[in-house]
Amino acid sequence: MPTLQYLGHSAFQLEADGVIVAVDPFLTGNPKASHEEKHLHPQAILLTHAHNDHVGDTVAIAKRTGAKVIATFELAEWLKTQGVAGATGGNHGGTVAFEGGTAKFVPAWHTSSYFDGTTFVAPGVPAGLVVRFGGRTIYFAGDTCLFGDMALIGEEGLDVAVLPIGDHFTMGPADALRAVTLLKPKLVVPCHYDTFPPIEQDGAAFAARVEAETGSRGAVLKPGETLEC
Ligand code: NI
Ligand code: MN
Repeated sequence: MPTLQYLGHSAFQLEADGVIVAVDPFLTGNPKASHEEKHLHPQAILLTHAHNDHVGDTVAIAKRTGAKVIATFELAEWLKTQGVAGATGGNHGGTVAFEGGTAKFVPAWHTSSYFDGTTFVAPGVPAGLVVRFGGRTIYFAGDTCLFGDMALIGEEGLDVAVLPIGDHFTMGPADALRAVTLLKPKLVVPCHYDTFPPIEQDGAAFAARVEAETGSRGAVLKPGETLEC
């Protein structure tokens, strides 16, 4: 059974059988980060898209640990130019393996680019990730709005759905609740809220509505908290 640890914003760590997988490890500059870059020791890093609040510390962590980085194609190619030799690009519909698991790229309705301080680089597409790891299937929606094909993603048989609820840049709580009815996961974990003023939301109220209005359980994780999933 894997553990899921929230690192703040959209950053998570999965761990099972001694393998650690980081997802969207935005720590430096993240006011809600529970960890510093040097605290992460993953074997794999999974990225949903190129925005700075998702790529985060990926380059530093990958260079230090040699972690395999899995991202959509253009982002992976850009990461190689930054010295991340272990970057592997995939795209929607494709499944890429890492130590102990796999990640399937599914659609996300959003944009994707990295701002290097001067210009926007690493064009490409955003994705959600259906991660099979430690005997569980965990959907990281990434940044997205609600879309009807979440019903198809739900057919993957989701143990956990990690959904953005911040509004403004992604779906907000009301649309995330509709997403739960399409995805039908056993457990819902909200993320991408309360990091910055435009995305302040009540995570506990969202989780309560998940429990009351859908067939799924809801769990709010504070940054640094871990649950078994
Ligand atoms: Ni984004
Ligand atoms: Mn974001």
